[in-house]
Amino acid sequence: MSVPDKVVTNDDLSASLDTSDQWITERTGIRQRHIGGSTSELATEAGRRALERAGVDPGDIGALVLATTTGDALVPGTASTVQDALGTAGGAFDLNAACSGFVYGLVVAAGLVGVGSGPVLLIGADTLSRITDWDDRSMAVLVGDGAGAVVLSPVDGPGDLMSWNLNSDGSLRHLLKCDHGGYLYMDGKEIFRKAVRVVVESAERAMAEAGLGPADVDLLVPHQANLRIIQAACQRLGIPEERTVVVIDRYGNTSSASIPLALHDALSTGRVAPGDHLLLTGFGGGMTWASAVLRWGG
Ligand code: ACO
Repeated sequence: MSVPDKVVTNDDLSASLDTSDQWITERTGIRQRHIGGSTSELATEAGRRALERAGVDPGDIGALVLATTTGDALVPGTASTVQDALGTAGGAFDLNAACSGFVYGLVVAAGLVGVGSGPVLLIGADTLSRITDWDDRSMAVLVGDGAGAVVLSPVDGPGDLMSWNLNSDGSLRHLLKCDHGGYLYMDGKEIFRKAVRVVVESAERAMAEAGLGPADVDLLVPHQANLRIIQAACQRLGIPEERTVVVIDRYGNTSSASIPLALHDALSTGRVAPGDHLLLTGFGGGMTWASAVLRWGG
């Protein structure tokens, strides 16, 4: 993972906006966020660390998939900059599915591995701060910047993508949007309502297709948009919060990066063991939403 050095606390924001630590914490669960850098810088650093940790040479990579909604430029794709910096072999492309991008990317990457690509470097990276109006308290308190990455390799062993679903309802695209040169706009209340419903429905479908019930899920790794959305989904899914990863307090909503940041936290704190069942679920602009069940390989 990689996040910018600069930490912005709720109190920092309250100094220039009509808001408070209490409002932000109670309504969202966010206490601080990291702000700065470019999407390619953060993605490159996270990608470099993932390759080192996996012990995979950049020259052995078959494809680099960068899930992002805030590329450095319209053209070329930001994956090109990251590929050049890391020296990875094979293809490199961006994938934009907003906050569902990492789960979408995981399914795409697993598909590439399945048709013989060799190892795939999957990165989720976003710098929402660059498209945020910092005078708009309703958006400014929510966003953070960051990147997380994984290497998917073909293995003989327990590691497996057991089930997945990708979903989209483009008639809801007006709920979360940013036009060229503009700022992020969101109908927070409506997204909140829809998010809980679609997350629960797609997570339940992914569990059923993997032949698992809530008690079989060792860890839920949800998109981090609002602690209350995570809590409501946990309650409806019957997965206790102790088996759920929450990092929104430290990073805010980092869009495509939020699930890999949560995954990194779970790995670093010893919450993931080989053979564990992980349920990943994301939702965001589009609207898009997606869930996947993994058996962790190690
Ligand atoms: N500080 C203080 N007051 C605020 C702030 C703030 N930062 N922002 C809004 N308020 C005020 C509002 O003006 C409103 O005041 P009013 O009652 O006088 O009109 C009041 O607080 C309540 O506002 P609501 O919007 O009703 O607050 P709510 O409890 O719905 O929380 C939030 C807002 C946090 C945005 C919530 O709706 C949410 O999390 N929605 C989902 C966000 C999400 O999941 N997005 C998806 C992905 S995001 C992405 O892709 C970038």
